[in-house]
Amino acid sequence: MEPSQVAIIGSGLIGRSWAMVFAAGGLKVKLYDIAQEQLTSALENIRKQMKELKESGFLKGALSVEQQLALISVCTDLKAAVEGATFIQECTPENLELKKKIFGQLDLIVGDNVILSSSTSCLLPSKLFTGLKHVKQCIVSHPVNPPYFVPLVEIVPHPETDPSTTERTYALMKKIGQSPVKLNREIEGFVLNRLQYAVISEAWRLVGEGVISPTDLDLVMSDGLGMRYAFIGPLETMHLNAEGISNYCERYREGMKLVLNTFGPVPEFSGEIEQKINQAMSEKIPSVPKVLDARRKWRDDCLTGLAKLKKEMKSD
Ligand code: NAI
Repeated sequence: MEPSQVAIIGSGLIGRSWAMVFAAGGLKVKLYDIAQEQLTSALENIRKQMKELKESGFLKGALSVEQQLALISVCTDLKAAVEGATFIQECTPENLELKKKIFGQLDLIVGDNVILSSSTSCLLPSKLFTGLKHVKQCIVSHPVNPPYFVPLVEIVPHPETDPSTTERTYALMKKIGQSPVKLNREIEGFVLNRLQYAVISEAWRLVGEGVISPTDLDLVMSDGLGMRYAFIGPLETMHLNAEGISNYCERYREGMKLVLNTFGPVPEFSGEIEQKINQAMSEKIPSVPKVLDARRKWRDDCLTGLAKLKKEMKSD
């Protein structure tokens, strides 16, 4: 069954973003939080963001700001929040015990056709959902910040999740314009963070070993690898950088193995190297809230522009 109403549990950074993404997709959204003032501020923030998006031409969906806002309502009663919803997206703080408590409460009040989905960045479905009566309906839908412009959603099942839950979640994410990927089984870090940590780890070692400065290291990604990775992944890169994958392996397999065998152990992410990287980053961007916020705003503006470009280039 196609969901027409979703409930969002937790109205912080990610809960607000999900609300906007679902409303842009034309779905009714009930936003739940423990504190009324949190919901009031979420609604104000959503209205402000939508207006700015409209002005800059980036509002998603076919509906106007007012029509999208009219789809979003708020509620501090969990039972009322989930009533009528066929999809529930949990967005509470990254705390296993808290999330288990919330899913335990939801388990007692939902029916057999509702999907219980968590935004968790790193808690495994087996930790979150094991023992729930409705475990077949449970799944992780991990977004990337900011979800409005970075559309990827990692869909991660519990070992007992019913395949129809995965399929329905996938279809819903597609319908609202996100870019879902399915993991066939849970794994620490899911996929995005495993790739991210592989890059961070080698970056840390290269700087630590004095091969390159921290700022030049970042340039290798932002003006090098990142340029193409905004459009094609590492596997397609291999395919295109030779006459197909097999030809790439034939040409580069020994070279890749030679380099990979020189990779060092997992860094400690502390001590002298941490200080060195911190100093370099702080010289470029002082760690004070105002400066960090301005830089985040600039980053999000860049992502907005990139999302527009990707749409124009029809990069998928
Ligand atoms: P946040 O701290 O901004 O928001 C959490 C919200 O949950 C707050 O509004 C808080 O009032 C509410 N809350 C606390 N206890 C609650 C309860 N018992 N019932 C209902 N609401 C409750 O956190 P944020 O950043 O939005 O993260 C939410 C989830 O999304 C976390 O699991 C996080 O790992 C995940 N996530 C976060 C990303 C990010 O970049 N911030 C990216 C991807 C996923």
